Amino acid sequence: MRTEVLSADEAALAHAAQIIRAGGLVAFPTETVYGLGADALNENAVKKVFLAKERPPDDPLIVHIAHPQELIIVAQNIPQLAWDLTKRFWPGPLTLVLPKAERVLKAVTGGLETVAVRMPAHPIARKLIEASRCPIAAPSANRFGRPSPTRAEHVVEDLAGRIDLILDGGPTSIGVESTVLDMTQEPPMVLRPGGVTLEELRDVLGEVRLLDSSQREAARRSPGTRYRHYAPRAKLMLVEPEQLEPVVASLIAQGQKVGVLTVQSSKFTVPSSGLVTVGMPTDLTSYARRLFAALRELDAQGVDVIVVERVAERGLGRAIMDRLRRAGGPEGT
Ligand code: TXA
Ligand code: MG
Repeated sequence: MRTEVLSADEAALAHAAQIIRAGGLVAFPTETVYGLGADALNENAVKKVFLAKERPPDDPLIVHIAHPQELIIVAQNIPQLAWDLTKRFWPGPLTLVLPKAERVLKAVTGGLETVAVRMPAHPIARKLIEASRCPIAAPSANRFGRPSPTRAEHVVEDLAGRIDLILDGGPTSIGVESTVLDMTQEPPMVLRPGGVTLEELRDVLGEVRLLDSSQREAARRSPGTRYRHYAPRAKLMLVEPEQLEPVVASLIAQGQKVGVLTVQSSKFTVPSSGLVTVGMPTDLTSYARRLFAALRELDAQGVDVIVVERVAERGLGRAIMDRLRRAGGPEGT
């Protein structure tokens, strides 16, 4: 299959909506990461998403809507608290897990009786959903297990030849995925930290729990946490900031080609053939925006190991640390 790549103007959006309505696959920008969209009510189209990504069928997709009222099309028994959250955080990077409406396909929910729904803030995403006149099921538009795409070029790398169209809307602004919040539990539980922070959710919800993804419970509640994610090809090591220099020095001494993701890049100015340094911004918002592209850049340089220093686990730092831990895989720290 030939994959078209078009700058996301009006004509391209109309063309994209036609493809979605015909059961095809379109990658499109959201404010978090690029999504790989299909008509959420078309079983064949949804199945193609799993095939294109090589994603296991029990890892459910998020359904994207263009208006808060459309929540009743895909979910039922919606608690008042969920509506309160939509008022505060939609459109935006918050995904709500709710009991699914009859019409929502099991193919979308991975066999679960719940559905994950979000209303994205990116105008291109919303225009595409509106023009397609259907809810759009969309996982991140990466090959399964790879870092999520924050630029159209990342989607090309992973999915060219496997999908119909990529709408290029430039780099995404948040850079990590939405927060997934399970509203079927009391108190609600964050299954995946993301663009809306725990602190912001506490403001509206009072009490909210954070799923401990190292626990066995995680696999049952959040199917996505069963698998290694966001993984560069290189091995990833998370270290304390003060361990960074000695760890890097010892890996280079062992003959490894080392990539370093660091906010202290000034410490690595001495040129070394076995070292590739990517300087990261110190503020967490900019760090999140840069993270997945940085992992892909280090991979492209063919490093054996990527060493990353921990960031503070507050605000967006929770989402960043979650992605770094998963990128390290089960054997990672
Ligand atoms: O920001 C985002 O959320 C992006 C953009 C494209 O919207 N999408 C995204 O989708 O990250 P994906 O498929 O890569 O991640 C969806 C996550 C997975 O961890 C999945 O397990 C979880 O949401 N999920 C989906 N439906 C669920 C459900 N019914 N119950 C629990 N978790 C669910
Ligand atoms: Mg994903």
